[in-house]
This record gives sequence, C-alpha cells and structure tokens, in this order.
Amino acid sequence: MTEMATGPGAVLASARPRTRTMKGLVLAGGKGSRLRPLTATGAKQLVPVANKPVLFYALEQLVAAGVEEIGIVTGDTAAQVEAAVGDGASFGARVTYLPQAAPLGLAHAILTAQDYLGDDPFCMFLGDNFLKRGIAPYAARFAADDSAAQILLKRVDDATAFGVAVLDENGRVQRLVEKPKQPISDLAVIGVYFFGPEVHAVTPRLTPSARGELEITDAIQGLVDAGYPVRSAVIDDDWIDTGKKDDMLEANRLVLATIGRRIEGTVDADSTVVGDVVIEAGARVVASTVRGPAIIGAGTELLDAYVGPFTAIGPRCELVGCEIEHSIVLEGSAIRGVPARIADSLIGCEVVVERSPLKPQVIRLMLGDHSLVGLV
Ligand code: TTP
Repeated sequence: MTEMATGPGAVLASARPRTRTMKGLVLAGGKGSRLRPLTATGAKQLVPVANKPVLFYALEQLVAAGVEEIGIVTGDTAAQVEAAVGDGASFGARVTYLPQAAPLGLAHAILTAQDYLGDDPFCMFLGDNFLKRGIAPYAARFAADDSAAQILLKRVDDATAFGVAVLDENGRVQRLVEKPKQPISDLAVIGVYFFGPEVHAVTPRLTPSARGELEITDAIQGLVDAGYPVRSAVIDDDWIDTGKKDDMLEANRLVLATIGRRIEGTVDADSTVVGDVVIEAGARVVASTVRGPAIIGAGTELLDAYVGPFTAIGPRCELVGCEIEHSIVLEGSAIRGVPARIADSLIGCEVVVERSPLKPQVIRLMLGDHSLVGLV
C-alpha cells in the first residue's frame, strides 16, 4: 500500500484489511428548496413513492445489504423523520439520530457523524435518492477491497447537470468535476458513497465552496489527491434524485410498475379495477374505475372517480367526481367535482381541490409559497 504511505492516510492505513462491520449514514437534513411548498413544512425524504416515504427505500436497501447500524443525519424536520422511522426496529435496523447544526453540506454531515462512525467503514446514502434494485453488490464489493472510498456512477446523456467522475483505465477515480461545461465524462456521481475511516482525515480540512457548503466532491478529491485508492462502480440500476416533482413522479412510476395486484379494501359492483392495483385495507371504491398500475391508500374513498395508470393516492383521501392519472396525492387530501382530468401532479397532505358552488364562478385559490397551478 505505497499509496497510503504519505498524506493523511499514513495514520489510518493499518485499518486494512477491512474487518469492521459497515455502518449506514443516511442524510435526511437539508433544505429541500426544490420541492417547495411540500417541503416548506415537511421533510422531503418523507414524500411518498407508491405510498411509502422515499427515505424508507434507502433504509430497506441498507438492511438488505447487511447494514443494520444506521445513523440518520437530521435538520429542521428531525421530529418528523424520527416519528416516521422510530428506533429502526421495523426495518431490522438500529437507528441513531445525528442532528446537524445547519445544512452546511454533505461533507459537513460526515463531520457531524464522525464520533458515531468511529473507525468503521460506512455507506452514505442521500435520503432523497432512489435506487430501484439497491446497493447489495456494491456494499459486498467495498467490504472485500482495500479502497478508501467507492463511488457509484450512472451513465447520463447530459452530464452538465451533475457532478461527474473522470476515471483511469483501471476504473480508479482520478478527478471529480461539478457540473462540467465541457463533456469530459458522462459518468454522474449518484447519492450513494462508501467510505473507509480515511475520509475523517480529509473532512476537517475542507473549506466551504462558493455556495457555502462542505462539498462531498472535495472530500473525495482530497482522498484521491492524498494518494488513496478511490474506486467506482457504474450501475445499470434505475437511479433518481427525487429533488423535484417530475423526479418524484418518475420514481413513483418505477415502483408502481412492479407493485402487483392486491385488493384488501372494498370494490362495489359498479366499479372496475383493471390490472396491477393495490387497494389497501379500509379503502372503498364505489362507482369508479381504477386502471393500474396504481395504489389506493388505507381508508381512502373513491366515488364516481377515475384513477388512471401510475397514480398513488395516499391514505384517508376522498376522490369524488374527478379523474386523475400519473400523479401522487398525499394523506388526507380531497378532490371533488373537478371538471378536467388531473395529470402529472403532486398534491400535498390535507389539500382540498374542489368545484365551488359559490357565486361569482371564479377560481378561488389558497396556495402555499412556491405553489404551482396549471390551468386548462
Ligand atoms: P441536496 O438535495 O443536495 O440538498 P437540499 O436538501 O438542501 O435540497 P434543495 O437543493 O432542494 O434545497 O441534499 C441531498 C440529501 O442530503 C437530502 O436528503 C438532504 C441531505 N442533506 C443533509 O442532510 N445535510 C446537508 O447539509 C445537505 C446539504 C443535504
């Protein structure tokens, strides 16, 4: 390991071969500005994909990869995240909450977690990133090798919107470039990273970037520059950074496509339920059509309604005299008597969209900051 003889790694090189159990570090803080107004009050990691918070997929995939000690970095929405995840037992994990003083960057989250992580290798998983098949092969590969970090890469058409990696002929990371103007690589860095304890020699030395954050790309570049082996794996899995509405809808589409058929609620004789549809317990479908793939949450009521493909209706909703497809509706919302079909929409909790009997016949709105309304 001559590469580790100099630089910050010299102290920590003796941690090889990797014998320690891998921990998880899930990032559930941040600002969530791109998903406002939903995230003005709620954690973006709790926005549901097929009626399950996107964060839960990360936790399940860590556990499926054998990672059971999981630290969750939290911010302003800590109470909601803690209420949703609890002690982690329902996932088969032991969860420790790590409050981050402010959203000062992904590398700052590692600094926040440094005492919790100790000398253990860890998998850092951004709580709003969605992978369809998970991380098990990459976790196994990192556990078996001697690299200081392993990053996951996804080939993309337009790399200018991503952090990208430039590799050498052996697949080792040479350089990371944030949003490159020139097409130097089509390998985007995704939100799942594996680190050995060497990273803790780098993060305390980082300085804030132009946007005021301690950048994870700088931490990884610091490892490369110090001569540590940083490896990469190019994934062929579906990956979505669910920062915006259309990304949430795309993740929803991917999961619903695999959901199968399960009818636990009631469907009356005047209703039609076609294809892969999950109707959860206590939901009632009356004089309505549901064309899958779709999920109807527990306790939700459909009356004279049409729910089309790639739609997830959360629990305790009420849909009366309306049509909706390719959309996500969160818990406790009501849509009544809307004349046009709703599509491509993300509707928050306890929202009411209805035809008003009031005169004059005008559009009446009560919308949160950063709301978006598309009228026909
Ligand atoms: P980002 O999506 O990069 O940041 P953000 O949450 O501030 O989002 P936006 O751009 O919409 O304002 O963060 C990726 C994940 O990491 C996300 O789950 C939030 C989390 N995070 C932290 O936990 N701490 C931090 O300091 C930052 C920057 C993000």
